[in-house]
Amino acid sequence: MEDAQPANAESVPMRHFGECAPLAPESDPLRTSHGCVCTTSVLRSACSRNGIAVARWHDAQAMSFAVVHSRALDALQAQPVTVEVHLANGLPSFTLVGLADTEVKESRERVRAALAQSGFAFPHNKRITVNLAPADLPKESGRFDLPIALGILAAAGQIEPQRLLGYEFAGELSLAGELRPVRGALALALAMRGDQAQRTLVLPAASAQAAAKVGGLDIRAADSLLQVVQSLHAGDDAPPLPRARPLPAPAAAPVPDLREVKGQAAAKRALEIAAAGAHSLLLIGPPGTGKSMLAQRLAGLLPPMAEDEALASAALLGLAPASFDTRAFGQRPFRAPHHSASAVALVGGGSPPRPGEISLAHGGVLFLDELPEFARPALEALREPLESGHITISRAARQAAFPARFQLVAAMNPCPCGYLGAFAATGRHCRCTPDAIARYRTRLSGPLLDRIDLQVEVLAVKPAELMSQPDGEPSAAVALRVAAARQRQVQRQGMPNADIDAARIDALCALEARAAAFAQSAAQRLNWSSRALHRALKVARTIADLDGADMLGTAHVAEALQLRRSLEAA
Ligand SMILES: Nc1ncnc2c1ncn2[C@@H]1O[C@H](COP(=O)(O)OP(=O)(O)OP(=O)(O)O)[C@@H](O)[C@H]1O
Ligand SMILES: [Mg+2]
Ligand SMILES: [Zn+2]
Repeated sequence: MEDAQPANAESVPMRHFGECAPLAPESDPLRTSHGCVCTTSVLRSACSRNGIAVARWHDAQAMSFAVVHSRALDALQAQPVTVEVHLANGLPSFTLVGLADTEVKESRERVRAALAQSGFAFPHNKRITVNLAPADLPKESGRFDLPIALGILAAAGQIEPQRLLGYEFAGELSLAGELRPVRGALALALAMRGDQAQRTLVLPAASAQAAAKVGGLDIRAADSLLQVVQSLHAGDDAPPLPRARPLPAPAAAPVPDLREVKGQAAAKRALEIAAAGAHSLLLIGPPGTGKSMLAQRLAGLLPPMAEDEALASAALLGLAPASFDTRAFGQRPFRAPHHSASAVALVGGGSPPRPGEISLAHGGVLFLDELPEFARPALEALREPLESGHITISRAARQAAFPARFQLVAAMNPCPCGYLGAFAATGRHCRCTPDAIARYRTRLSGPLLDRIDLQVEVLAVKPAELMSQPDGEPSAAVALRVAAARQRQVQRQGMPNADIDAARIDALCALEARAAAFAQSAAQRLNWSSRALHRALKVARTIADLDGADMLGTAHVAEALQLRRSLEAA
């Protein structure tokens, strides 16, 4: 009987040890002959009753396999991955399987060096197989270094494999065995909370600090592989890893104040309406009139972010190559990509898919200065997310979806030279031919302009007039009105007015009888698409909310119509 065991050894699935015991088939020789259950201590005592040879065989098997839990980033989702490590006798090798990309494959070299530098024996004489399961989920980055290293140590008997099962690990290793931060730590923690996983999450210190923003999880911070291994030692004297604490909220970074913009009452009013209803805004005017200044002050007018909004925004920013600065947590992002940005940089893409500027601006403001200078494909790519609030990037094999509910604010000159219609204030004539002006305008497609709720002219002001103007109203005062109007919207429909869908417009944007007749005749006269009319009604809804009115009156509709006419009238 005992002699038969080693012969059977190869056919026994390795998973038989550890937590998989209940899965072992009835016919399995280990269970039927010894009735052992697969925790190491019970296993050993059961085996000792059956003779030392079997015990040794068990020990050898128990030590050659380990499972470590981790996660792979799939867009913003962090899907569970099990890192399985198997050590076998045979020609020494170190193989990584399971759709790992180059960065993950390089993990072998880092893990080998890190183990040696941390004072552990690397099983040089074994055939090491590391499987990242499920195999069809793409794995990227060095985040699997730590789980792989721990798996090898467990499979080689230097850590008890069961000790690893209550944890999830992610971390890149330096050759010296120190832990480097990983991308998307917050997304990882959010996914764990979503799965209601009961495990403890172990992360490199900087990542752990970011992830700790997610409440209700046990997150531990580690600086090195050695520290993690020490904390996993059996017995009560193992030094536990410190619990990760989020950085205290810092004083908000100073944002530019609306007070500094002089005059431009109409443009400021448009900015306030845009902020109140989360409407997209296009500022058109000659050079140096304060368009960029105004746009940069929009984020400062928006109401503070709710906790889950802030988490979603921080999780997205944490996916970008430049890691998220936790000090900016809870501040609405303001992204201003240069006009040379490609469509991929703007909407996201690449392999593995990374979020673009529109997703990094989720919950905040995307500012496109010099709008017509952007490449046409880049601008056209904005059309779908502007309506839907998310972007789906399709690659041959997979799709990745990122949220992208951003507020668009754009600025442009009225013509290539910039001075069309600005002679009175600037004394400069427009030198552009009608043809050049037409070409400049056609860089913006009709469908894109149709999606911009507010299109406002920023007039040139004579320098002398500008100098004599008093300071404007401070951002804080405007933000109060914006917050009150937003509050009405949230109470009424649970979202800002800009996000009202077509089906609910009639119910939510109820018009007084005269206002309804006025809106209809104006839309007919201006040849508006029904989208344009719907958008104007949503703007009128916001104006009424700023006014504290329940029904849309003629004045609200008239102002809304006025606010999207600039390009058509010019
Ligand atoms: N209304 C204003 N109040 C105070 N300063 C102003 C105003 N308008 C312009 N300025 C001054 O002019 C500078 C340029 O303004 P800004 O960059 O906003 O112009 P712009 O309209 O974006 O011009 P361009 O079309 O060339 O991009 C500002 O830094 C500021 O010093
Ligand atoms: Mg500018
Ligand atoms: Zn011109």
